[in-house]
Amino acid sequence: PFVPVILAGGSGERFWPLSRRHRPKQFLTLDDSGRSLLQATSDRLVTLCGEPEGLMVVTGNDYRSQVLEQLPDMPLENLLVEPAARDTAPAVLYAALRIARMQPEAVMGVFPADHRVTDSQTFGRVVRQAIALAAGSGRLVTIGITPTFPATGYGYIQRGAATSEGEEFMAYTVTRFTEKPDSETAQGFLADGGYTWNSGIFVWKVSAILDAFRQHQPELYRQLSDAMDADAHGLTHRALRETFPTLPKISIDYAILEKSDTVSVIPAEFGWDDLGDWNALERLLKGEGENVAVGRHVGLDTGGAILYTTNGDDLIATIGLDDVVVVRANEVTLVVRKDRTQDIKRVVQQLKEHP
Ligand code: GDD
Ligand code: MG
Repeated sequence: PFVPVILAGGSGERFWPLSRRHRPKQFLTLDDSGRSLLQATSDRLVTLCGEPEGLMVVTGNDYRSQVLEQLPDMPLENLLVEPAARDTAPAVLYAALRIARMQPEAVMGVFPADHRVTDSQTFGRVVRQAIALAAGSGRLVTIGITPTFPATGYGYIQRGAATSEGEEFMAYTVTRFTEKPDSETAQGFLADGGYTWNSGIFVWKVSAILDAFRQHQPELYRQLSDAMDADAHGLTHRALRETFPTLPKISIDYAILEKSDTVSVIPAEFGWDDLGDWNALERLLKGEGENVAVGRHVGLDTGGAILYTTNGDDLIATIGLDDVVVVRANEVTLVVRKDRTQDIKRVVQQLKEHP
């Protein structure tokens, strides 16, 4: 069996102030499809696997009701709620341990809830090939994306030997996985040509990822599996509630993928876009002229700007500005140079500390 798991517990800080603590970007509708990023992710997976009953979602306490509201067909028992957000490694381990109890032979897929995919046909075919590879080899399979610029917000995968034969997509062993390199390193990777971006989509046997956790994160593995064992006969999840906040805050990329030597990659093109920050709007929405504007905007001598207001009565006027992002949402006005949008997180952090 194949169990798709959607990770939907991120805080989406780089889309502040549109995404707020109580409504991060996976719950927002950013294009004109009428479906939020989470709903679109679920739609793709339902197309791939058939029934929504098989779909699992892992999210944080605060987002529980929004997930249920947005995915009304999902059975309650398929929603895993983390008592505290500890990044993606504990979330993935939680899901893997849960699946292992019912279906130890299962292959699980991990799907971020914050991506856009324009070619869902190809997406479906590459995921199916990844499932076959993971089931047959026991390897940790990631789907790779051809890099187009030296991004510092992605993981990079160095391809090793080709391993597929007679398949639609090539598969390779992974020589090295580097999570979020600095800009110089990223430029080197791009120039080298032997690297793909990590899409954040993973396919592996539940038994294989549990082995990897036992080997590379033994303490995390022990803490979480002990808590789940302790809770196995009750309904209160008391041990889980006590343990989760004490787990290390670490992503699956740093915790496992950088360390494991059984990773494979299948590079593919399916119109993938990580809607990582405001710059993504430029790719999502075709702007008129040089600027991308959502809401009313008047610009004099303004070029390459991203202008966004959620309130129909608001107007953004700019004069003599290039390459800026101006956002007016939720009573906040943000003005940031396009090349500094990664730092929005720091503003959010500062506001958390000094509200
Ligand atoms: N349940 C849960 N709990 N989900 C989480 C948590 C958590 O604590 N933290 C993040 N997520 C979810 C996010 O909502 C998102 O859907 C997904 O996990 C990935 O987390 P991000 O925080 O968006 O990761 P990233 O974009 O910085 O980096 C990852 O994705 C890149 C591609 O988009 C890495 O895997 C990179 O290597 C990769 O290139
Ligand atoms: Mg992301």
